[in-house]
Amino acid sequence: MNIILVGFMACGKSSVGRYLAEKTGMTVVDLDNVIVEKAGMSIPEIFETVGEKAFRDLESYCVSLTASMDNCIISTGGGAILREQNREALKKNGFVVWLETTPENVFKYTQNRTDRPLLANNQSIDKIQTMMAEREPLYKDASHHSIKGYEHNLYSIYQEITDVFTAFKYHQSQAVKS
Ligand code: S3P
Repeated sequence: MNIILVGFMACGKSSVGRYLAEKTGMTVVDLDNVIVEKAGMSIPEIFETVGEKAFRDLESYCVSLTASMDNCIISTGGGAILREQNREALKKNGFVVWLETTPENVFKYTQNRTDRPLLANNQSIDKIQTMMAEREPLYKDASHHSIKGYEHNLYSIYQEITDVFTAFKYHQSQAVKS
C-alpha cells in the first residue's frame, strides 16, 4: 500500500515525502516530476505553452498511474485534488495524508520564486488565503488523515503518519476478512 501526500503549494509535501522514504525504505515518487518527465518541459513551460487545462489532463493521467504503484510514498501537486476523479483515484490507491499549512507560510516559502505559475508575481497573503479556502474542502474530501505540518518537525510528522498508517492498514485487512 502507498502513502500519498496532498496539500497546498509549499506545504512541505516533497520534503516530508523524501524524509518518509528515507526512514521507511519505501520508494518516493513526486508526481510533479513525473509530469515534467512525460512532457519534457518544466511546469511553468507547460502552463505557458499548452495551458492549465492540458497540464491538468496530464496530471490526471499521472494520478491514474498510482493504481499500479505499491509501497511508495507519493507526493502530489497542490492541484491534484481539483478533479473528483483524481480525489477518488488517490483515496483508492493509498493512505492519503493532507499536510495542512497557512497562507503566511505559503507566502514565506514562495516569495520571489518562479516555479509555480499559479503563484507567479508574488501573490498577496489575501489571494493565497482565498485560493486555500476554496481548496480546503477538496483536500478534506481526498484524504484519510490530516496533519498541521507547520506545528511539527519532520520526525514527529513521520511518527504520526506511520502510526496512523499502521492502524489504517490493520482496519483495511480486517474489512477484507469480514
Ligand atoms: C499546483 C501546484 C504545483 C504544480 C503546479 C500547480 C497547484 O505543485 O503542480 O504548479 O495547482 O496547486 P506543488 O504543490 O508541489 O507546488
